[in-house]
Amino acid sequence: MIRSVVRGIGSALPRRIMKNAEFEGMVDTSDEWIVQRTGIQQRHIAADDETTASLGESAARAALASAGLTPDDIDLIVLATSTPDNTFPATAVNIQNRLGMQHGFAFDLQAVCSGFVYAVTTADLYIKGGLARRVLVIGSETFSRILDWSDRGTCVLFGDGAGALVLEAEESQGALSDRGLIAASLRSDGVHKEKLYVDGGPSTTGTVGHLRMEGREVFKHAVGMITDVIEETFRQAGVTADDIDWFVPHQANKRIIDASAKKLGIAEEKVVTTVQLHGNTSAASVPLALSVAAADGRIKKGDLVLLEAMGGGFTWGAVLLRW
Ligand code: ACO
Repeated sequence: MIRSVVRGIGSALPRRIMKNAEFEGMVDTSDEWIVQRTGIQQRHIAADDETTASLGESAARAALASAGLTPDDIDLIVLATSTPDNTFPATAVNIQNRLGMQHGFAFDLQAVCSGFVYAVTTADLYIKGGLARRVLVIGSETFSRILDWSDRGTCVLFGDGAGALVLEAEESQGALSDRGLIAASLRSDGVHKEKLYVDGGPSTTGTVGHLRMEGREVFKHAVGMITDVIEETFRQAGVTADDIDWFVPHQANKRIIDASAKKLGIAEEKVVTTVQLHGNTSAASVPLALSVAAADGRIKKGDLVLLEAMGGGFTWGAVLLRW
């Protein structure tokens, strides 16, 4: 059988770091409130010349360099984003052009904060289906562009950035010890739309709109949904929490991350947390966290890595892979 194996990883962050204290003059909030309720200490905010495509391109180039590959080696680009540069064409095609690729194909995928988990799963199916041998899977976001900067309930939570993986087809016996994507579980349920959405769009208002969220409501559902898909993924793979080397969750809120790990019985030292550095970067959060943990030597070849995300829609999902 074929497995989709991680060959390279990279990330990119906007130049500007915005600390919590900067919000104190803008809305009625404090560094202390933000840290206590979310764990966030800072986030990166894109300048006018930093876009979803430019950040995605930088992350893709870094991933290619770490894989020892060039754009010529890539067959497909799947970009997870909810903040495309234009309504169309797809930002993935823009990135393809920026990389100088005049072969293969590229498309965007939209599942908000779960986008990267959906994109990895999608890339895996293209690889297994034989339509692509090497895929750049990118999560890139400029959420700062869709924030209502006067709404303290949302503007303090999000940041901009990008992360990318190169996935490559590799022959496998299908064993748990073999490298590559082992199991995945995806869900969505549109009944929750009003709890987290953007109040604009091409076919409704003709505007981009702003992010709206009932934070407490999202929080209430998050831990249960996250742990459900993870348990389903564990069942598929025949593993338990003890078998996991690294838990790399979506970075929305440290309290959600801690509560999910605790409910699943995943030891604290196996949890990769970067929300303090990046805030919630939506589809970029999981690959950014993976990049940090791979770069500092925590995640090593052969480790069993669990990814998870939950976001607007609602959408949610989990992926288990052998690094
Ligand atoms: N500073 C100070 N006070 C604030 C702020 C702020 N930035 N934001 C809200 N408050 C106030 C509220 O107005 C409220 O005041 P009130 O009691 O007078 O009404 C009080 O703080 C408590 O508000 P809650 O919403 O109950 O606070 P909570 O502890 O739930 O924390 C938070 C809010 C951080 C938003 C939390 O609910 C959360 O993280 N929710 C989940 C977000 C999430 O996971 N999103 C994931 C998906 S994102 C995506 O898909 C795009």
